[in-house]
Amino acid sequence: MVQLKQNPHPLRNDSFEQQLRSVSAELESVLRTILPPPNTRLHEAIGYSVLGSGKRLRAFLVLAAADLFSVPSEIALRVAAAIELIHAYSLVHDDLPAMDNAHMRRNKPSCHRAYGEATAILVGDALIPLAFQTLSSLPASKEVQGELIQELSRVIGSEGLVAGQMMDLNQEGPIATEEDLLTLQRLKTGVLFGFALEAGAILGNASASDREALKNFGLLFGRMFQMVDDWLDGCGDEKVMGKPCQQDKDKLTFLTLLGPQGLRKKVKETLKEALETLSPFGEKAAPLKEVAQYVCQG
Ligand code: IPE
Ligand code: IPE
Ligand code: MG
Ligand code: MG
Ligand code: MG
Repeated sequence: MVQLKQNPHPLRNDSFEQQLRSVSAELESVLRTILPPPNTRLHEAIGYSVLGSGKRLRAFLVLAAADLFSVPSEIALRVAAAIELIHAYSLVHDDLPAMDNAHMRRNKPSCHRAYGEATAILVGDALIPLAFQTLSSLPASKEVQGELIQELSRVIGSEGLVAGQMMDLNQEGPIATEEDLLTLQRLKTGVLFGFALEAGAILGNASASDREALKNFGLLFGRMFQMVDDWLDGCGDEKVMGKPCQQDKDKLTFLTLLGPQGLRKKVKETLKEALETLSPFGEKAAPLKEVAQYVCQG
């Protein structure tokens, strides 16, 4: 783990699992510098919801995309932290009684179970500006900061993640077709993954075509990821997942639509399509390929 000091880039270790562990450890240190100290009940609840666990896949993707353009990892890690703050907010709110009413998250009681509903709402409210504050103090040009802020605010807003959550809760009419499902999954999950990849390209001043290829990879990664999440909701185990299963059994999901076999086939097809989008990057895209394959093993 601590070869980190001698070997400062967390993607320079040999195995993929080691790389993911290194990114998680580095991210944890950066998050600790960004979060307020636990000097109030609200700050304690924020730390409870952000620190110590989570697969940190979005962070890994930012680092891996930024590394294609040799962006220093210290900068990429701060963007990764901003995305993980947004992701943490979305989970705290997703678990609320008015939404999925989930009692567990990341192997412990969900935020509202530990701190009460009002505090959980406010934790989410506080994490959003903290993420944007992190981006606005990034050691990068004003143009890069501006693009990151503009794009992140777009993808998590009322035409992005929040729209997807509305659809998922059937607040925009019934989800009836495969096309509805693809839209829902792109919005609630895909666009934040798309942003994680695009952020690496923005940091690296990538060409328009490289940026587009990475964003497309991110969207396909998100689709695949949400399909696996739906599969695990139906076929997984709460103890392994660290969150409740069978939450979606009465919803239209790719599992209820296609069944386990059909869903597995769809995941494989999506993986293939996602890997093809990485062809412009050759060997350098190995960490992105590995993380995509890792997610599909679920
Ligand atoms: C859970 O995301 C929410 C979904 C979009 C399905 P993750 O499975 O990445 O959650 P953590 O960060 O590892 O807890
Ligand atoms: C959550 O989707 C998506 C967001 C938080 C934006 P899910 O509701 O399927 O996630 P889990 O299964 O609770 O982690
Ligand atoms: Mg949900
Ligand atoms: Mg949920
Ligand atoms: Mg789920």
